[in-house]
Amino acid sequence: MSIHSPIFWHNASATQAFAQAFVAAHDLTNAIIELRGDLGVGKTTLARDLLQALGITGRIKSPTYAIVETYTGQDLQGKDVAISHFDFYRFNDPAEWEEAGFRDIFASKGLKIVEWANKAQPLLPAPDWVISIELLEHDVRCVTVTPSSGGN
Ligand SMILES: Nc1ncnc2c1ncn2[C@@H]1O[C@H](COP(=O)(O)OP(=O)(O)OP(=O)(O)O)[C@@H](O)[C@H]1O
Ligand SMILES: [Mg+2]
Repeated sequence: MSIHSPIFWHNASATQAFAQAFVAAHDLTNAIIELRGDLGVGKTTLARDLLQALGITGRIKSPTYAIVETYTGQDLQGKDVAISHFDFYRFNDPAEWEEAGFRDIFASKGLKIVEWANKAQPLLPAPDWVISIELLEHDVRCVTVTPSSGGN
């Protein structure tokens, strides 16, 4: 399973395999992953697969309404990883950045998985990884992974 771009996902199990390989290949104990792509392209599905690859077994809600859902996962070494899954689609009050504790989350160690990061600019720190998903014909998804300067 390649994690090098571009990647083509022909079905949901390709997304799962990618998530497992991505988690196995990178130290995500303190990282920001931005998931980019059009409405309904599959960002939350990938976030769920990443969370499952990090050992989250319970129900994984989309953070669309709450903006953030938090978890404690385990990396491959069995080390605890604080994980925050954000969806900023409905974020429109900059005061909430402070009040809801988002600033504290980004200032703390942990993995942050972010959908709709553009709606939280310029408050959001730069991501370590950008994973972009594009829907092609016949339900095929083309995925590109871009490490930013801080990526590992
Ligand atoms: N890799 C995939 N393979 C097959 N179907 C998928 C895949 N990813 C997502 N889907 C389907 O696409 C639909 C939308 O997925 P999802 O909610 O993950 O998108 P999203 O990008 O998070 O949407 P939003 O922009 O609203 O946050 C779901 O019905 C899901 O089952
Ligand atoms: Mg979503």
